[in-house]
Amino acid sequence: MRIRPRRLRENPILRRMVRETRLSVDQLIYPVFVVEGEGIREEISSMPGQFRYSQDTLIEELGQVQELGVPAVMLFGIPEVDKKDARGTAGYARDGVICQALEKARKDVPDLLLIADVCLCEYTDHGHCGIIDHQEGSGQATVRNDETLELLALAAVAYAEAGAHLVAPSDMMDGRVAAIREALDQERREDVPILSYAAKYASGFYGPFRDAAESTPQFGDRRSYQMDPANSREALKEVDLDLDEGADIVMVKPAMPYLDVIFQVRQLTTVPVAAYQVSGEYSALCAAFDRGWLERERVMAESLLAIRRAGADLIVTYFAKEAARLIRQGDL
Ligand code: PBG
Repeated sequence: MRIRPRRLRENPILRRMVRETRLSVDQLIYPVFVVEGEGIREEISSMPGQFRYSQDTLIEELGQVQELGVPAVMLFGIPEVDKKDARGTAGYARDGVICQALEKARKDVPDLLLIADVCLCEYTDHGHCGIIDHQEGSGQATVRNDETLELLALAAVAYAEAGAHLVAPSDMMDGRVAAIREALDQERREDVPILSYAAKYASGFYGPFRDAAESTPQFGDRRSYQMDPANSREALKEVDLDLDEGADIVMVKPAMPYLDVIFQVRQLTTVPVAAYQVSGEYSALCAAFDRGWLERERVMAESLLAIRRAGADLIVTYFAKEAARLIRQGDL
């Protein structure tokens, strides 16, 4: 036989040399949840190994993230229930949980890149991602697109001023990248990049996150603004629009069930592509690890490599710290 693909698979050194896809610590982004109060580090029951931190414990955690070489975190604020209102005011209040955390983190952990998720769902009392029209008793909610844009722009500016290095709109309103870009530029924050959740699907895989962030919609669902899981051409349209509006990095979310979308987005654009391995992907894997049904390190590594192979340059993942440890040991 002239051609034997196995020749390159026999020797482990050679196998390593001809690997097509690599994962580097530099490509990882770690999502972190911040709550009000002090001395809090409570484990999220649906996300084993992930915690809600108050400002003080957050700083310790961010120090560890940095020590592991993970370059960036994505911060989510969770206000106290009585601070939530119909317009998500706590999301853009300068003395609110997220602005305060950004300010402190920027000061105390200056070399860690801070990405602020921009969305209203953690801050609204109804749990939707914007201002709503609610027909009492119908169980339906319509999010008013254009009015919501103003609030998202306010939030993005507040986060940039509080210390966020990047802002990451995850709301899926039409025109939000343009609205945010314009507002940032007006406030002389033209250097703050926008990482847009360009193709964000209405996914069941966000279940554990909504539990963690207490952001489950009180009625209705998000299908009128997040994308239909059946569509991929539409993802390209969303990416095109966001790029036109000034997005610097585009993201696909979730990751593993949408590898084909990541691949297509990678082909479409020259800007960096990110993918978010979301809470449900993490928790489903952890549940199987716990039962001994899947091998933890091996499967975690395989899942991240698959996301890279599909075309993601950056991966937002709850496994970031663990993956960083493996990469540093040379095991990934
Ligand atoms: C906010 C937001 C969500 C996630 C990131 N930003 C939840 C949602 O849209 O319901 C999900 C993250 C995850 O599941 O890990 N809109």
